[in-house]
Amino acid sequence: MAGKTVAATWHNRPLTQTLQVKAGQVVTLKLHAKAATPPDFTPPKRLGNDTPAHRASARLKRGVNLGNGWEAPPDKSWGVHFTTADVDRIAAEGFDHIRVPVAWHYYLKPGSNGMDISPTLLADLEPVLRRALDKKLHVLLDWHHFDDLTTAPADHSARFIGGWEAIARHFQAWPPGLFYELLNEPNAALTTETVNPIYQKAIAAIRAIDPNRILVVSPGHWGQVGELDKLRLPDTDDRIIVTIHCYEPFPFTHQGAGWVGFQDLRGIIYPGPPDTPYQIPAALRDNAGLRSFIDGYNTLPGEQNPCSARCISETLDAARTWSLYFGRPIHLGEFGSHFPADHASRARYLRDVRTLTETRNIPWTLWEWKAGFGYWNPQNNQARFRNSLFE
Ligand code: BGC
Repeated sequence: MAGKTVAATWHNRPLTQTLQVKAGQVVTLKLHAKAATPPDFTPPKRLGNDTPAHRASARLKRGVNLGNGWEAPPDKSWGVHFTTADVDRIAAEGFDHIRVPVAWHYYLKPGSNGMDISPTLLADLEPVLRRALDKKLHVLLDWHHFDDLTTAPADHSARFIGGWEAIARHFQAWPPGLFYELLNEPNAALTTETVNPIYQKAIAAIRAIDPNRILVVSPGHWGQVGELDKLRLPDTDDRIIVTIHCYEPFPFTHQGAGWVGFQDLRGIIYPGPPDTPYQIPAALRDNAGLRSFIDGYNTLPGEQNPCSARCISETLDAARTWSLYFGRPIHLGEFGSHFPADHASRARYLRDVRTLTETRNIPWTLWEWKAGFGYWNPQNNQARFRNSLFE
């Protein structure tokens, strides 16, 4: 049966991966052909490797996320605001695209003809998008943090689809360098299986307005590579780039991150092992996944160490294998390290991700420009990681 052949080809190499969930747990999964193949597996059509999406993806190489700005609730700013001056600096640094997270759900309300987009948002956002396009940067306009949809998909999918219809109508005449990324990191109740039909309807709504726009789509479980084989996209649409996120090694990249319960985790270097064994903070000793990570981090040499480039290259290899087989170009939409890690480790980590993606022809978009993972230091107006990412 065709389904079995596809699954065997794709999964025939057992992959051992340490995958992370944003709740701060570290989970080691073995992905095997049969275990990962859903019972009703219908193979997606293979699209070849020269589609409009491939050609669009080849124009993206190095990008940065405008994180923590328009993704925050409008009445509770996270202290980051972007202007055209940011775009000018981003272009001068050598980035060729920006990803722009927007929490669209705060800015859409029912109007006389579908949903209306807040004019206040547009007045703030559009000059930045226009400047980027004028500077020949591509723009990935993304819907971020739609927590109602991830919590109760059935109740909010109409709002999501209607929202995309409104966005597509509004930006219909904008240049083709503007791409739409449907949803950042589907998670919780919005599994890959659940989001598939919602994506299909949102894509149909966009296509009725704008047949040619390049779309970007993420699998579930926070955009993890292991979800790719569950993703179902319209077989006839060859203008879709698939995006994944990779924050491996997670305890390194998210040390000090309160939103994943790692506020007490500090001092993890990259790569391991450290000169003196790391002691897990008391508050985190119950986290078995973290304990196992730290055991390996303290003791294992080279690529055997869980805090090494191995987990990054395994993720990228799995994504690339899937991408080449099914003919969907892949993009790394987020990676990065939170500020509490030491600068030299952060610089080494960023260099590794950049090298590993570029040698696999995978475009990357750093998380993020000028906040807690920031490339740019707004205090002294200097770049922090130019060497790692561009030299
Ligand atoms: C979230 C950010 C978070 C980052 C790293 C992003 O997708 O939107 O809020 O800082 O992931 O965890």
